[in-house]
Amino acid sequence: MVRSQPFDVAIIGGGIAGLSVALRLPEHMRVVVFTKGQFGESNTRYAQGGLAVALGADDSPALHFQDTIAAGAGLCDEAAVRILVEQAPEAVRWLIQLGVQFDRANPGSEGHATPDGLLLGREGAHSRWRVLHAGGDATGAEIERALMAALRARSSITLYEKTFVERLLLRDGRCIGVEALDCEGQRFTLQARATVLANGGAGGLWLHTSNPAGATADGTALAWQAGAAVTDLEFMQFHPTVLVAHNETHLISEAVRGEGAYLRNHAGERFMPRYSAQAELAPRDVVARAILSEMQAEQTDHQYLDLRHLPAEKMHARFPTISALCRQHGLDLAKDLLPIEPAAHYCMGGVLVDTAGRTTVPALYAVGEVACTGVHGANRLASNSLLEGLVYGVRIADELAAGWNGTARAALTHTATLITYDDALEADSIPFACVDEQTLRCTRQELRQLMWRSVSLSRDQEGLLTAQQQARALRAQLAHAHVEDEAQPRLVETLNMLLVAELVIAAALERRESRGSHWRQDYQGTNVDLAGHRFVFLSPHAARCAQKEVAVHA
Ligand code: SIN
Repeated sequence: MVRSQPFDVAIIGGGIAGLSVALRLPEHMRVVVFTKGQFGESNTRYAQGGLAVALGADDSPALHFQDTIAAGAGLCDEAAVRILVEQAPEAVRWLIQLGVQFDRANPGSEGHATPDGLLLGREGAHSRWRVLHAGGDATGAEIERALMAALRARSSITLYEKTFVERLLLRDGRCIGVEALDCEGQRFTLQARATVLANGGAGGLWLHTSNPAGATADGTALAWQAGAAVTDLEFMQFHPTVLVAHNETHLISEAVRGEGAYLRNHAGERFMPRYSAQAELAPRDVVARAILSEMQAEQTDHQYLDLRHLPAEKMHARFPTISALCRQHGLDLAKDLLPIEPAAHYCMGGVLVDTAGRTTVPALYAVGEVACTGVHGANRLASNSLLEGLVYGVRIADELAAGWNGTARAALTHTATLITYDDALEADSIPFACVDEQTLRCTRQELRQLMWRSVSLSRDQEGLLTAQQQARALRAQLAHAHVEDEAQPRLVETLNMLLVAELVIAAALERRESRGSHWRQDYQGTNVDLAGHRFVFLSPHAARCAQKEVAVHA
């Protein structure tokens, strides 16, 4: 069923990236926003640490640029980073105008602040205090609250909640809208002159993650199936400090280490100075691997975060969300050693886009974690993710508002190897079967376990090949499955996870070196020839078009 007249812009995703696009577009444009869950419940909502922007008196976009490039381990796209850091202050002012209330210094209070009183936090690999935060450690929740309030006040924007976008519609190779499933499992299509993917990352593919359950790589799968190029999927960031308690995992912000917390092993040693001169504030990939190395040496499954030497009252006030979370698990943030481990957190790669957010499919855009602008390189600098969603969301909206003709597409401007990945399954390996929710749950669990086992912080060819085979076998079991209408979104979500897992593994196999978050046991060094070099994956159909249409500049 086709619903309504064509929209100007369809946006998939209700986090900072999608909502920035929606709110920045002029009111006369017909805009629709989809979320598969409830509005207000995106991954953005769970961001704690904050949003990086060079607003301090001792700071500048040039320093923010330097830190981003250094953390990115030789893979950042410099032009994209320059845009990010230079456009950040103005984009943040727009966010504040929309109603976001970042924490401010009280007269006479301690703390680092901008000249106009916004408090600044510190996180790993930042050379300055530069991170705006809200509600102490509830930055994402405040941003989501304010953006949703602004969105609901705009009667011109249509919202579809609990609506799962199953497929992108194409005509003559161009994206013309979406096919979606509503909460009763009923299918409908909706046309749009431009479609924007803003539906987040892939943390849910791993057993242990800081992400909410909805991070199932849907956007990457949608784009891939529409023929868009994807890149850098081998770079999954593992956040160093995720609280492990009662079989649950919860993020503990890097800002806690920014305030001076230590990491300790079971012998009580503060071990980070042995691994990096930046100690606990080294880039995330370095800290996460150091923790893994301590766990392996001790044969333990966690290490500890220690705030006991810091002023208790101040820590509870600065981190109210984390303090409450610890209390729920019988821990006192300021008095107890907190058991932590690294867990899947953020996908640096995704759908390949240019600095205007265009994918390689005309009229299809991508922004935020689902997209790969190249700003994060091989290891994202802390608190650059909310910023990227904001800055690039604004850029996409400004381009769409400026009367674009809808035919432009991304071209690669860096060195790259184009790889055709054939995801087709052998027809006789696919059974027709009716499956239920329990089967889907088991498949997802199996996938998460195998990704955790073989595609985590330390990888090698043998493990990756086994994981690839297993992920493909799991996908074959479901490719022709039938489910009840209401379970259809869960089935498609599960297939999305399996498909993207295969792409991640293929990318990890291709990069035969260790760089940033991608650590190969069998290729431990960094290969200088691969600095700034991307592996770009295309489906066979898209690869045929790419021969003619994707320009690759050496
Ligand atoms: C954190 O607060 O540590 C997470 C923020 C981020 O991933 O940048």
